[in-house]
Amino acid sequence: MEITSNLSLKELNTFGLDIRASHYCIIHTVDELRELIKMEQAQGLQKLILGGGSNMLFTEDYRGLIIHNQIMGISITSETDDHVLICTGGGVNWHNFVLYCVDHGYGGIENLALIPGCVGAAPIQNIGAYGVEIKDTFYKLTAVELNNGSIHQFSREECQFGYRDSIFKREAKNKFIIVDVTFKLSKHPQLNMSYGAIASQISESGIVNPTIKDVCNAVIVIRQSKLPDPKEIGNAGSFFKNPEIPIGQFEKLKEKFPDVVGYQAHHDKMKVAAGWLIEKSGWKGKRIGNVGMHDKQALVLVNYGNATGEELIAHARKVKAGVMNDFGIDLEMEVNIIS
Ligand code: FAD
Ligand code: EPU
Repeated sequence: MEITSNLSLKELNTFGLDIRASHYCIIHTVDELRELIKMEQAQGLQKLILGGGSNMLFTEDYRGLIIHNQIMGISITSETDDHVLICTGGGVNWHNFVLYCVDHGYGGIENLALIPGCVGAAPIQNIGAYGVEIKDTFYKLTAVELNNGSIHQFSREECQFGYRDSIFKREAKNKFIIVDVTFKLSKHPQLNMSYGAIASQISESGIVNPTIKDVCNAVIVIRQSKLPDPKEIGNAGSFFKNPEIPIGQFEKLKEKFPDVVGYQAHHDKMKVAAGWLIEKSGWKGKRIGNVGMHDKQALVLVNYGNATGEELIAHARKVKAGVMNDFGIDLEMEVNIIS
């Protein structure tokens, strides 16, 4: 195990930003991680955990130690006729894990196909798509405390999951590295086709009795049709969260803009489609220099090639101000800003 100095992270973040880390180390096991934490060279350095780098925006070079989690392994820890508990290393690629489960007939995460990144990062923002969030199948996780190497288990309740949120984005932020996650998956899965496009995609394919594999494939097709591939154009998925506003405020908005897109999130709150707000505000597909909001999905901030983190964040602030000016709604950034 070796700490590398002054490493370019260009290939390690999906915005493709050419920034450098003053210190960088890959860990493959919990033992290596605990050894690293004790190393003299690591003492006193600010630390950042890196998975797939698909939900980060670096605004400048990182002065500290990047710990790149490559702890692998997928194993069934317990099973009944109905369920499996499946424990997965934090460094396993999320989409590969979804495919593994689908291929083995374990249902519950097929709607989350093709989300970039690693299993260890999935609980951080409770990844979600197409009517499913990981909290729905999450069982527990193991995390190592960064300042002393101690090992902790977190139950679902302890993770305090919310929409694109968990304890690891708040009071436990940057304090733990998630080394494995256990999911409870079903051997007799109920398909979730609540998101209309999935059912349409499946029926267009002429499938009559869909399986989890069909749902997984439908999700892949839908995602590929509107989300930019980071290998072709730098991005980190949705840059902002969909804002939740009081129902009264939503009704007033609807009087003025009858086509506003929103749906009930809580008994007194509506979730508004931030993509709609950004599009209506005139930002969709508008390129300024190296940056812009994607032309197929206005919620996705893109780097057309040579943008810096500062340019990206400056553009995001303009979009946020534009939406506030036009609709009085404050957009919250979803991507982790590393400065
Ligand atoms: P990174 O970007 O490496 O890290 C993200 C944050 O988690 C950082 O703060 C990091 O320090 C921390 N972290 C990472 N690993 C660990 C660990 N093991 N322990 C502790 N902290 C850790 N997200 C969705 O929810 N739904 C989507 O549909 C979706 N679609 C996307 C589409 C595209 C094209 C892209 C580029 C991104 C999309 N995302 C989506 C966002 C992203 O894929 C997820 O947030 C993913 O979980 C990030 O994983 P990562 O390994 O790349 O995390
Ligand atoms: N819309 C527009 N213009 C746009 C984009 C969207 O008007 O440019 C409106 C449309 O009416 C559309 C609605 O917004 O029907 C919802 O759009 P979409 O289904 O694409 O989903 P989203 O709300 O924009 C969220 C997640 C995505 C996730 C999809 C699918 C957030 C912040 N984003 O996007 O997650 O994949 O739903 O479930 O909740 C991510 O987090 O990185 C991400 C991509």
